Amino acid sequence: PIYTDYFFDEPAYNTHDGGYVPLERPAVPAKPLAIPALLKPDRETATDVYYTVTAQAGETQILPGAKTKTWGYNASVLGQTIVFPVGKHIHVTLQNHLPELTTFHWHGLIVSGPYVDGGCHAPVYPGEEKHIDFTLDQPAATTWLHAHPCPSTAEQVWHGLATMVLVTDAHSASLPLPHEYGVDDIPLVLQDRRFHEDNQLDYHADYDPDGVQGPTAVINGTVNPYFDVTTQKLRLRLLDGANRREWRLHFSDDLPFTQIAGDTSLLPTPVTMTKLMLTCAERAEIVVDFKGRQPGDKVTLFADDVPIVEFRIHAFQPDNTALPEHLFTVSAPTVDPALPVRKVVMSGMDEQVMLDGKKFNMQRIDAKQPVGQAEYWDITNTNEMHGGMVHPFHMHGTSFLVISRNGHAPYPNETGFKDTVGVNPGETVRLLVKFDLPGVYMYHCHIIEHEDGGMMAQIQTYEPGKPLPKYKLMDMDTL
Ligand code: C2O
Ligand code: CU
Ligand code: CU
Repeated sequence: PIYTDYFFDEPAYNTHDGGYVPLERPAVPAKPLAIPALLKPDRETATDVYYTVTAQAGETQILPGAKTKTWGYNASVLGQTIVFPVGKHIHVTLQNHLPELTTFHWHGLIVSGPYVDGGCHAPVYPGEEKHIDFTLDQPAATTWLHAHPCPSTAEQVWHGLATMVLVTDAHSASLPLPHEYGVDDIPLVLQDRRFHEDNQLDYHADYDPDGVQGPTAVINGTVNPYFDVTTQKLRLRLLDGANRREWRLHFSDDLPFTQIAGDTSLLPTPVTMTKLMLTCAERAEIVVDFKGRQPGDKVTLFADDVPIVEFRIHAFQPDNTALPEHLFTVSAPTVDPALPVRKVVMSGMDEQVMLDGKKFNMQRIDAKQPVGQAEYWDITNTNEMHGGMVHPFHMHGTSFLVISRNGHAPYPNETGFKDTVGVNPGETVRLLVKFDLPGVYMYHCHIIEHEDGGMMAQIQTYEPGKPLPKYKLMDMDTL
């Protein structure tokens, strides 16, 4: 089948928010889509790879006229794209060249918390550096790096601290999928911003406790971008990197496309669709087939009814290889039926947002789960359908499977591993959750102002039979 709807509940779309900021067609000339450079390792051996990631301030020519003051990783805005091969021992030097504390959170990587994971307990102070190392044992995926200091994650991301991190493995490399970075395998970081006087950002002027928005779509840091298509098939790695915005994506002429991957793995089988909605922090990899298009043709990617990227078709070699029918085998861990189902409640809007009726406290461990033990987690959004919102629920330190939505089958494109799932108002989404690494991990709504506003909790995972390690947890006073 070809799916033709966004699946999420229409009355809860952000377009119905009182504070909704609609996207506007940018009144600036089209520019080539920025393709972030691939970050070069400092050195690499057969078994190890070494990187340096520097958070830095800079200026970026985003609009005609004055440059915009922005932050980025090894770049003036967003960052260079980082590639982590599964199985290699990865060493990263984290440098903070910013005027304030930041953290380096690997959203979607299964690495130990709370330090390597880079959540709020892993500060790197201005002018300092830290070293982390880990070895990934997870499927190939499109993940990302973003700042995560509590409670200024949203402001730092708004300034530009977000970049893609591609996890690669032999299985996905062996599949007949577009693989050539920058040519037929393209990152698309979807964000929105408001530019004030002299083209500057002003986070505080735009502040909204339900999530900061702007009227200008900024894709890989480019306003009004076009991309020159030179292959019949194009793989787009989509990331909702916005603080609050949901992206309801479709192409001109309802051109169908095929989703091949979600947040943290390929999908078991490709899913063909004409519409795709991403909530904050979600990723999707899609393959678009331009078969039949002629040089000079244009295909436009829209968010709702606003064009956000123009694909300009050039001559290409025919490529009619079918996508593999089977992409990935999901091995779901079994849950002991005697175990109780864990309940998580996301409630409220604006300053009232809470998780399990509480505001986040960095010093408080809210839950415990043994490593290696699979459990069901029921995530409930208690908002009302009319006037409520979709809250994207995210977990650190693991990937989960979506088992059901209010007892019904999950959406057809959420059948692989994920780390973020949009929960509709009045809905309970059942997840299958297993941690493999002991540590402390945050879980929260990924509307970034909601997480900064306290819609967040943390869990300690532990090895049964061993003494519980003590972690040094930040608190507001140690900031
Ligand atoms: Cu993108 Cu706490 O995460
Ligand atoms: Cu995360
Ligand atoms: Cu929320």
